[in-house]
Parts: sequence; C-alpha cells; structure tokens
Amino acid sequence: MPGPARLVVLVSGSGTNLQALIEAVADPVYGAEILAVGADRDGIAGLERAERAGLPVFVHRVKDHGDRADWDRALTASVAGYEPDLVVTAGFMKILGPGFIEAFAGRIVNTHPALLPSFPGAHGVTDALAYGVRVTGCTVHLVDAGVDTGPIIAQGVVEVHDADHADGGEALQERIKTVERKLLVDVVGRLAREGHRIEDRKVWIPA
Ligand code: GRF
Repeated sequence: MPGPARLVVLVSGSGTNLQALIEAVADPVYGAEILAVGADRDGIAGLERAERAGLPVFVHRVKDHGDRADWDRALTASVAGYEPDLVVTAGFMKILGPGFIEAFAGRIVNTHPALLPSFPGAHGVTDALAYGVRVTGCTVHLVDAGVDTGPIIAQGVVEVHDADHADGGEALQERIKTVERKLLVDVVGRLAREGHRIEDRKVWIPA
C-alpha cells in the first residue's frame, strides 16, 4: 500500500485553511501528510500555525528576488525539494509563475472564496456582494496558467443575507470560510486517497 500523499501548503495570511488541514492529517485514515508550509511573507499567523504544529517552513518574498522569474524559480525549487504529490495554495495571495505551474501541473489545488467562474481574483467576496448576488460560496479547483481559471473540483454554496451589505462583507466572508475549510479538507483527502484524472476540464476522483 502506498504511504500518505505528500502535501506542501502555501499561505499568505491567517492560515485557518492550513489549520484545518493540519488537524485532518493527524488522523492516519485521512491519507495525507504535510511536509512543509511556504509563504510569500513573514510575520503571518499561517506560519505560526505551521511552526506550532512542528512543520518546516520557508518564505520567499518577491522583493528579495531580482525579478518575478527569480522568485518563481526559488519557490519552485523549495517546493520541489519536498517531492510533493499535491501542492495546496490555501489563501496564497500571489499568482504562481509559469515555471511553478509547469513543475506541478495538475497537482496544485487552490481554494477561492466565490463560485467560479464568477468573481475571480483577490476580492471574490466583496466583488460578489457588490454585484448583488443572492448566493455565493467557495470553489476548490486545480490551478492552471490563468487567474482562478483551472478545472473545478468542488463548490460550496453560501447564501447572502441583506445584513451582509452593512458590514462590508465581513460576516459573509466568515460564513464562506467555514464552508471552505470543510470543502478543502474533504477534497484534499479524496485526492490524496483516490487520486484523480482531468478530462476536458472535468476532474474525476474515483468513488
Ligand atoms: C480564504 O478564504 C481563501 O479562499 C482566500 O483567502 C482566505 C484565506 O484564509 N484566498 P486563511 O488564511 O486560510 O484563514
């Protein structure tokens, strides 16, 4: 029997999705282990969570590299060093470079706080709210060369309440994140245990 799937997780912020994965992998039945956590910035709660869990961390800030291509090479090399089966971008707020995407093609899993293909980009929650949608949610998808354009694996739906317009989307974001954490843990576990294939934008995970 093959061992647990090897994960590297990339974060930029509070790391609550990372925390959910840390808790999930504690159960051997889940079928995955986190080898390391990478970030594009220092001083974030996401890295503290990783350190508290005893996980190796690495940071590559764009500004510490000559240009974006150098940053991409450094990030790719750090992640590749762990020989991951899957890379999970969990609130990683940088667009991955072409080298990175090629190195881990079809194996990068991202979570986005809106129902793609609507409201891609960095402001998915507030863009959906401003548009006036009545339902929004989250999307777990594979990463391709575009921004939030890769094949969709799973989506979760969250209703928008009238009151959500009063607080700038804060409460809505928290409701989305609650659904998102469960969805991400579920999808990553299924990918880890069952594998997947991609056919004409559809992601198939054996039942
Ligand atoms: C998530 O909602 C993710 O979809 C978005 O940023 C948030 C990250 O949250 N891109 P956290 O850092 O996992 O708490």
